[in-house]
Amino acid sequence: MTEHKLQRGSERDLGWADEAWSRAEAKIGRNARTIGAAFPNGTINGRYVRGPAHDWVAGFWPGMLWLAYRENGDEELRCVAEACERQLAETLQTYDLLHHDVGFMFSLSSVAQHRQAEASGRGGDADAKRHALIAANLLAGRYNPQGEFIRAWPNWDGEDHAGWAIIDCLMNLPLLHWAGREIEDTRYKHIAIRHADSVLRDFLRPDGSVCHIFRYDPESGTPIGSLAGQGYAADSAWARGASWALYGFALSSRWTGEARYREAALRVARFFVSQLPEDAVPYWDFFLPEAGKESMPRDSSAAAIAASGLLELAEQLTAFGGAGVEDAAWCRTSAERIVQSLCGRYAEWGDEHEGLLRHATGYYSRGVYVDESLIYGDYFFVEALAKLRGRKELFW
Ligand code: GLY
Repeated sequence: MTEHKLQRGSERDLGWADEAWSRAEAKIGRNARTIGAAFPNGTINGRYVRGPAHDWVAGFWPGMLWLAYRENGDEELRCVAEACERQLAETLQTYDLLHHDVGFMFSLSSVAQHRQAEASGRGGDADAKRHALIAANLLAGRYNPQGEFIRAWPNWDGEDHAGWAIIDCLMNLPLLHWAGREIEDTRYKHIAIRHADSVLRDFLRPDGSVCHIFRYDPESGTPIGSLAGQGYAADSAWARGASWALYGFALSSRWTGEARYREAALRVARFFVSQLPEDAVPYWDFFLPEAGKESMPRDSSAAAIAASGLLELAEQLTAFGGAGVEDAAWCRTSAERIVQSLCGRYAEWGDEHEGLLRHATGYYSRGVYVDESLIYGDYFFVEALAKLRGRKELFW
């Protein structure tokens, strides 16, 4: 059992979070035996579909195992997480299959493993650290200096993606910050900051909503305009996109200390929370046509990501003091409201369904994992619970 003292950020009774944590931790332990060193993505008929190690979601399962391991020290969880990490490391040879989401993939596997080994007093994990540094180099290599953005994807699907950047990439930037710090090379930080500033300028709207994809001329770098991507329309507000923006800007604040990222995260947070239905879990897009909206699926993954992002933003606002302290309290209360609803109405604690959170939506327009469980929804739900119980350290 890892020895630590948890410091809660709230005086309110969070017994419900302890209870939910115990149930989630127990389910992760049982899933570790049935899923093993594989890469669950979304559920179909109650069972997670396992995918390849080069999929963008491949880091979330080992990440979840590390979240549980650092609380209970169960060696079985560590072995499975390490076996996942070895498979992820092999994908570093398959250059054409990788893209900007190496940040998601390697922050929650290789970086998490290295950090856990550091925290256990073993001086880190040299192999895992090297894998994460290689991944960071691949990510840095996707930077377009003319347009000051990180290119999202290769030209797959026969479509030219050379000038495409996407909102999710804010969550990949911590890998660059971490790598630059580890090897004392400021170039990584400069790339991360330039990309985040382009997102601030081109993705974030005055009302706090964001687009999913923004296109630049890859040759001149000129901003062209937004695309719908996984959202309902180019000018709509894909719910998970908003949650990536909220958490991603909060993490940019964590790594740089810059107020403009906290302000951006808070603007997105105010928008996100103001648009929530009564049970605090959004429909898959915030700007769906009113007619028929209530029969549209929810996205519990967006709720879980936003809740964990709100808790990070609360940390940032508290750390910098001043007027932000009141905003921090609001962020925390909002996060608690969302997680409490997820625990009470969306969580599946038993084994008849492998996922932890029901009613998540992967890619509505393509009919991919609609109203199912998603491994990233589960990850951020567990991460938010850990934070509510006082765990401040992140893998990001
Ligand atoms: N990063 C892709 C998604 O959120 O579905």
